[in-house]
Amino acid sequence: MPQTYRPKGAGRSHDPHDGLVFIRGCGDTLWDGKGKAYLDFICGYSALNLGHAHPRLLAVAQTQLSQLAFCTGATHPWRSELEKKLAQLVDGPSLESSESNSKVWLSSTGARAVEIAWKIAFANRPGKIMRFHLSYHGRSLATAHISDTGNSDALRHSFGVHPSVEGPEHSCVIPFPMCGSQCDGKCEECDASMDVARHWLEGHSEETSAMILEPAIGARGYYFACGAYFRRLVKLLRSYGVQVISDEIQMGLGRLGTMIASIDDGWKPDFVVLGKSLGGGITPISAVIGDRDRMDKLPQGIESETFAANPLACRVALEAISVLNDECGTASISRRGNLFRERLRDSISANCSVDGRGFATVIDVSGLSNQGARSDDSSRVAWDWVCHAQGRGLLVHLTGVERNRIAIIPPLNVGDVALQQAIEILSSFWKVR
Ligand SMILES: Cc1ncc(COP(=O)(O)O)c(C=O)c1O
Repeated sequence: MPQTYRPKGAGRSHDPHDGLVFIRGCGDTLWDGKGKAYLDFICGYSALNLGHAHPRLLAVAQTQLSQLAFCTGATHPWRSELEKKLAQLVDGPSLESSESNSKVWLSSTGARAVEIAWKIAFANRPGKIMRFHLSYHGRSLATAHISDTGNSDALRHSFGVHPSVEGPEHSCVIPFPMCGSQCDGKCEECDASMDVARHWLEGHSEETSAMILEPAIGARGYYFACGAYFRRLVKLLRSYGVQVISDEIQMGLGRLGTMIASIDDGWKPDFVVLGKSLGGGITPISAVIGDRDRMDKLPQGIESETFAANPLACRVALEAISVLNDECGTASISRRGNLFRERLRDSISANCSVDGRGFATVIDVSGLSNQGARSDDSSRVAWDWVCHAQGRGLLVHLTGVERNRIAIIPPLNVGDVALQQAIEILSSFWKVR
């Protein structure tokens, strides 16, 4: 289909699936216009954690569409119910609303919710924002400022938004330790990352508002660090009074085998940001959940959005959380994800490493460049591998700084047969090479 009307910048030519045209989706499967089926193990980068067209989500969406999709102002029962449910995810279900520690700000996209958390953090303690190297928090003008995609550098410069303070001496951009999910938080990489954070805080804590963290690096490469590292970092930030924002837009709500990764890993942030799969892959909706006193500090009139907290989105989000609890179960996601990675490791080349948590899995092909090949060779292998899988009906995501990592992001309610099929397709690449 010729893209006559679409600007070049709106394409994603770095993704092998960019040229595919899909016309139908159901569960874990997408179909193109010629009837070819694909297992969708990209899942809208976690927006489709319950797969396509989940019958329970369709049913509530249809009911709500015919009852009340949108209303002037935004007070309606489904909003209040959703706010309560989200606060309980952070506070624990047993608390009554009179005792709740949290308040909830609803928004429509991930980037907007990050901006809202940022504004609230600023209202509590004005100052700069610390972030991870390789973080991704969106592509709005503000979030591009704290995101680290190759092209957002161009965006920042061309629109005059200045990058966060960088440089080896004084940096509020903290290296993300790439030691993987199995580390104990005390390795050299973790220590080096902590040193940069400490160095910044020793000289600049007074002028620092918050640090925004992803519990695992999502968009920029699927890199994992352990809970022990995060607990060390958050303890350090707290000792300087710096607030903590956990951006769980991609990795929250089950993806890592935890509902709220930061809390389940024992480092409670001041603000949790959710998005993507909160809308069940049907309606855009996002949320900031934060400490009630801090949330109240943002004055009225600083923030609003036409479509935020609309009845349709709230109703679908409520059902999406229920389906997630009923069908997936965090313990089961962790167990099945570990089993999937074990089997995958056994069936692909020994030169590739496999890491992950829950149903967030990555294959790293860079081992090939350690074997005497150049890093662009490993990028070529990763590209070919993703294309090979696509040709055999499996969509996986090419990622990483060098584009030599492959993220595997199935729906959280995926069946064992589909998981086995994915392993067979991925391992067949090494048989034909
Ligand atoms: C961690 C994280 N934060 C923020 C965003 C931005 O979300 P949106 O594209 O809905 O603005 C994304 C999107 O991939 C993300 O992964």
